[in-house]
Amino acid sequence: MGNVLELKGIEKTYFGAVDTKVLHGIDLAFEEGSFNSIIGQSGSGKSTLLNIIGTLDKPTKGLVFVDGQDTSKMGKMKLAKLRNQTIGFVFQFHYLLPEFTALENILMPIQISGKRVDGKTKAKAEELCELVGISEVRNNNSTKMSGGQQQRCAIARALMNQPKIILADEPTGNLDSDTTAQIYSLFRDVNAKLKTTFIIVTHDRRIAEEADRIVEIKDGRVFLDIKR
Ligand SMILES: Nc1ncnc2c1ncn2[C@@H]1O[C@H](COP(=O)(O)OP(=O)(O)OP(=O)(O)O)[C@@H](O)[C@H]1O
Ligand SMILES: [Mg+2]
Repeated sequence: MGNVLELKGIEKTYFGAVDTKVLHGIDLAFEEGSFNSIIGQSGSGKSTLLNIIGTLDKPTKGLVFVDGQDTSKMGKMKLAKLRNQTIGFVFQFHYLLPEFTALENILMPIQISGKRVDGKTKAKAEELCELVGISEVRNNNSTKMSGGQQQRCAIARALMNQPKIILADEPTGNLDSDTTAQIYSLFRDVNAKLKTTFIIVTHDRRIAEEADRIVEIKDGRVFLDIKR
């Protein structure tokens, strides 16, 4: 299969009182349907890289191709549409909308894409609640769930649109080891069944080692790139 994501010569500098160059020329390609992990020390540039891959942030230099499309040429609206249709995000700090319930948050990507939320869609959202283990609290306001439940809710939301790509930044950071194992087997199932490409930033070496590929970022550069 072809590459669903391609990064060419990515550099990133945060400009401020002191300019900080965080990424120093990253070239990476991710194959469609692959299951990848990104590891590296705190501050090495993993979240910065993931935000650039997901077109939430722009590189200072270099190109990002998503699904074969050069994103540097796209305007805000086009990028938002590409993200909504192609990418599911699970952030390091889950950004659920506080004024909505868990279920409503999970349905949000459908709402945003302008599709109608019919019975079938609702049933799918309920099924995802079941899968991630938050059925009991699905009608709670999103702020009235534990941190781990909120994280699982964010994972269900990322899966809702059946995106081609899922980008996850420490998706199981707040979860106990049993739940972590369940979430990973869920990711693996989705990967196997739907050929969803996963890129997961994790500190957990055990999890990283179960991926098909480990990319290690060190001081803003690709330090290791191991495919199994
Ligand atoms: N908005 C910003 N403005 C300025 N510097 C930033 C900004 N965001 C991140 N940085 C700096 O860029 C570097 C990389 O940050 P990044 O968040 O990508 O690291 P990370 O590898 O995800 O770390 P962690 O494992 O702790 O999440 C750090 O030195 C950080 O201080
Ligand atoms: Mg980070």
